[in-house]
Amino acid sequence: MSNGVEVRRVLGETDRQLRLSGKVGFDSLPDQMVTKSTMKGFDFNIMCIGETGIGKSTLIDALFKTNFEGEQTHHKMDRVGINSNTYQLMESNVKLTLTVVDSVGYGDQINKENSYQPLVGYIDTHYEKYLQEELKINRNIQNYHDTRIHVCLYFLSPTGHSIKSLDLVTMKALDKKVNIIPIIAKADSISRDELDQFKERINRELINNNVEIYRFPVDDDTIMQVNSTMNEQMPFAVVGSREEIVINNQKVRAREYAWGVVEVENEAHCDFVKLREMLIRTNMEDLRERTHTVHYELYRREQLQRMGSKEIAEPIRGNVKDMYEMKRQQYKLELEKKEQRLKTNFISKVKQKETELVSAENNLQEEFEKLRRMHAEERKELEEKRRQLDSEMADFTKIRASYQATRAQTDKANKAKKN
Ligand code: GTP
Ligand code: MG
Repeated sequence: MSNGVEVRRVLGETDRQLRLSGKVGFDSLPDQMVTKSTMKGFDFNIMCIGETGIGKSTLIDALFKTNFEGEQTHHKMDRVGINSNTYQLMESNVKLTLTVVDSVGYGDQINKENSYQPLVGYIDTHYEKYLQEELKINRNIQNYHDTRIHVCLYFLSPTGHSIKSLDLVTMKALDKKVNIIPIIAKADSISRDELDQFKERINRELINNNVEIYRFPVDDDTIMQVNSTMNEQMPFAVVGSREEIVINNQKVRAREYAWGVVEVENEAHCDFVKLREMLIRTNMEDLRERTHTVHYELYRREQLQRMGSKEIAEPIRGNVKDMYEMKRQQYKLELEKKEQRLKTNFISKVKQKETELVSAENNLQEEFEKLRRMHAEERKELEEKRRQLDSEMADFTKIRASYQATRAQTDKANKAKKN
């Protein structure tokens, strides 16, 4: 190895290492990537879910040390809504496009059954937007403004009891779609002992209900230690504030009470610093990556499988030819489906006509039977009448014969008298 430069070349099964005789320069690749990424900037999207007034906006302000100027909502919403705001932030030349998506009116309805649906709908809509961009022939993913939710901060009320069923249901509906980080809000309203027990209970209930929350990755040696320690401390109990007070000649965010002061960034008071370190400093990129490789991937696969066959779900990352083939398959499937639909329609129409004809034939048959019966009855009546007339005629003939006989006798007697 000369001047620290080393080449590994893969030839089939063998793996040869070559030495460079001088500096080539590709060791600057990481720097090039950093420059490129820095110029482009980063997108990071947070979804905050929690009851009205639980402290969502205050915490986001504290996390990014700014004032995002959100409006407070009331408790009279008849359904859960979504409020999304995008901001451009700058820190030492690094540009961050931050989108904060807030649940509005969450937990305020009497019937809370479908509270999670608008949230799931929002997440899916933005996965769909990304998928449509990926499927374009001229896609522009490099410059695409990614609106997919990278993390969901789930605010739990500091009840000290167990997790509310609404929270469990929502987290369960979201856990395959987004990285969930549960946090205990307004932790200044719960005592240290109660908090420890509450954390334990929350973790137990999440496991019992198979709710998967985000775990900080422990596969990278450099952050393994800190991440595994932090995983044990979850859910973080946080305190938020927009007010700053002076302590030891320094302005700090804090909440001031008659009995004392709770400092937001004091680790002895709450877990706010841990949350900020883990969320922004250490694992922001992992959250973005996991969103793409795990959650979006699952959505993409389901959608493509829904559109067509399993095979077409695979080549999407490939070249234009793969894409073209996939689209062709898609249209073919759609055509086949259309053809099948037409066939089914035709068959059902023919069947309907057949049924109509059979019913018309039955009606005719019934009509014919009715006429036949009427005709038979009329004939019977006529027969009866004929019989009556015959009998009347016979009587009449008898009477006439007897009359004629009587008259003949009378004539004969009269004649005899005259003579
Ligand atoms: P909506 O957007 O209206 O749903 O409310 P939100 O969840 O954004 O709550 P917001 O941040 O507006 O805070 C509501 C109230 O709770 C404000 O008066 C805050 O000062 C207060 N608050 C915020 N964080 C904390 C906290 O950690 N502890 C205590 N005790 N109060 C807090
Ligand atoms: Mg708010």
